[in-house]
Amino acid sequence: MPEKVLVTREIPDAGLRLLRDFDVTVVSESPPGRGELLEAVHGAAGILPTVTEKMDAEVMDAAGDGLKVIANMAVGYDNVDLDAAGERDVVVTNTPEVLNETTADTAFMLLLAAARRLGEAERLLRSGGWDAWGPMQLTGPDVWGKKLGVVGFGRIGQAVARRARGFDMEILYHDQYRNESAEKETGVQYAELDELLRTCDFISVHTPLTDETHHLIGARELERMKPEAVLINTSRGPVVDEAALADALSEERIFAAGLDVYEKEPEVHPKLLELENVVLAPHIGSASVETRDRMAVLAAENIVAVLSGDEPKTPVNG
Ligand code: DGY
Repeated sequence: MPEKVLVTREIPDAGLRLLRDFDVTVVSESPPGRGELLEAVHGAAGILPTVTEKMDAEVMDAAGDGLKVIANMAVGYDNVDLDAAGERDVVVTNTPEVLNETTADTAFMLLLAAARRLGEAERLLRSGGWDAWGPMQLTGPDVWGKKLGVVGFGRIGQAVARRARGFDMEILYHDQYRNESAEKETGVQYAELDELLRTCDFISVHTPLTDETHHLIGARELERMKPEAVLINTSRGPVVDEAALADALSEERIFAAGLDVYEKEPEVHPKLLELENVVLAPHIGSASVETRDRMAVLAAENIVAVLSGDEPKTPVNG
């Protein structure tokens, strides 16, 4: 009897094809309800979830003793309870690397759109409110030649820095670890968080969500930014205090923000929805056709490896 693999959402065929030797159940196109998930997971040896499903002890227990692997189709794995997985000898994997460049593109897209007021401009045009070209209409700060601060200098942060070099930007980074080889190779400079916040025109956040990074950017940090500053977040919503950000934007204490992630997805702080100076994307950081294929393939390869008794390609727990 082939082992059961539960795929919580419809995923690209490239990934599903690799699971052909298993008894695969795909739960649904939209995020499954908790009850539906708990029922569907019964008897699964492998689960391939996405960021929309919480993988906690209850889900693991509902799967039963045969559960061996949870292969998250995301680089972030804050939706998976690693302690609960460890206690049950369940391997957890993620999809690093394959989405770095696409997510960096998204961060840079938001950075340009927020600076140059693209959302506001498009809303004006579509509403029929554009009556003529105007010398000072919809002007925003230049991006090229400005100072970028990258908070979290992992692979995605570094890919954003590479893009910024093409725009002749000066680049600072802050991370819990210094990366001296990147400093030498690319001319980026390390800065303490306060200095980065105080001096940068653009600040792009790329940290994973952990207890330490929850509300890393809050009222105090926003207070330190320049009035011209533009904040970009493509990491995880709770890294930024959304209510504090909405206040700073509505009081024009910073110039703009570009967000792809939110504290309580798919909810967005109602105040943000009212503001012109924030560009809001619905968590599409890795949403290119090629990257979503690569993520599905890597997640499926991890399932196949563990269920065949091999080492997973990209484990996140021991
Ligand atoms: C990730 O991979 O962590 C993204 O947020 C989902 O694409």
